Amino acid sequence: MTYDVTLIPGDGIGPEITAQTVRMLEATGLRFNWDEELAGMAAVEATGTPLPDATVESIRKNRVALKGPLTTPVGTGFRSVNVGLRKEFELFANVRPAKTIVPGGRFEKVDIILVRENLEGLYIGVEHFVQIGDDPRAVAESMAIVTRRGCERIVRYAFEYAIKHGRRKLTIVHKANILKMVSGLFLEVGRAVAREYEGRVEANDMIVDNTAMQLVLHPEQFDVMVTTNMFGDILSDEVSGLVGGLGLAPGANIGTKAAIFEAVHGSAPDIAGRGVANPSAQMFAAAMMLDHLGELDRAERVRRAVIDTIVGDNIRTRDLGGTATTEEFGSAVARRVA
Ligand code: NAI
Ligand code: MG
Repeated sequence: MTYDVTLIPGDGIGPEITAQTVRMLEATGLRFNWDEELAGMAAVEATGTPLPDATVESIRKNRVALKGPLTTPVGTGFRSVNVGLRKEFELFANVRPAKTIVPGGRFEKVDIILVRENLEGLYIGVEHFVQIGDDPRAVAESMAIVTRRGCERIVRYAFEYAIKHGRRKLTIVHKANILKMVSGLFLEVGRAVAREYEGRVEANDMIVDNTAMQLVLHPEQFDVMVTTNMFGDILSDEVSGLVGGLGLAPGANIGTKAAIFEAVHGSAPDIAGRGVANPSAQMFAAAMMLDHLGELDRAERVRRAVIDTIVGDNIRTRDLGGTATTEEFGSAVARRVA
């Protein structure tokens, strides 16, 4: 069996970490037919557009993509390609697991799955400036759109995920005390769906600011969490920080037409091109891709190989206090996974 997968190396550290991830995947013995495509700054430089049609077509055909991080200009410039891909393929669920793997850190028992709604809220990007007098940018306005259907779909996905993966508890995270409608609807729908799962998955809800604090003080209380787009963006970085940082945090964007697997982190321009980035997050994302493809044993082997390389062999990149290069780490994992 050969898997057709769209491969987007991405920007910054992207090509370095995806190269090691591909090498590791091929060491598992599985066969891949990689369709390498451009997106982000790399695509702008080569084709003048951040998301070429060929890339979209490739994902449409293969329905599975492994993607490196993409640089998005801040403030001005083209719209986020990540957001564009999520819209194009209706990737409504962003699943971000964070689990303690390095002992002796701040938290020993973190094992959280954060499920983030990926299409709605403030990320729809309907915003504009209002001119007052001669200042064309005197006021900025943005619209958050949340639909009953979108809330229901993501909360249901989170509950089904909890059941499928034998999880005991689900926390609905919101800000319905202030955002009575956009967050209120999410909470209302969330509670209604939770009632359907009564007796199967324990559920509670929590306001987002308190959640941020609880995560830092007592992260063990959380199991599966579900929240809206922006809260999920912020909390997933926080959650990854509890277990050793962005270098270890993978994410899956799951949709009806395709699934795209990537690290939570960005293109890390501060360390790009220096061969020191940690490819673990991208490798864990690849393991989620194998799960998605039904290769559950290989997926587990990949996770074990990364963990054993870090914890057992003590081969670590700089972000985890080691001295290994991206390449050295990659070859150690490839040896273990073979
Ligand atoms: P970032 O995640 O790229 O970097 C934050 C910090 O974490 C930096 O100090 C970086 O060196 C470190 N870091 C990240 N990944 C690492 C790894 N694998 N190994 C070792 N250290 C790592 O976030 P930042 O700087 O806010 O964003 C940079 C660019 O990435 C921006 O253009 C942003 O839009 C984009 N971005 C893209 C994402 C994606 O494509 N999914 C996600 C997040 C940001
Ligand atoms: Mg983010």
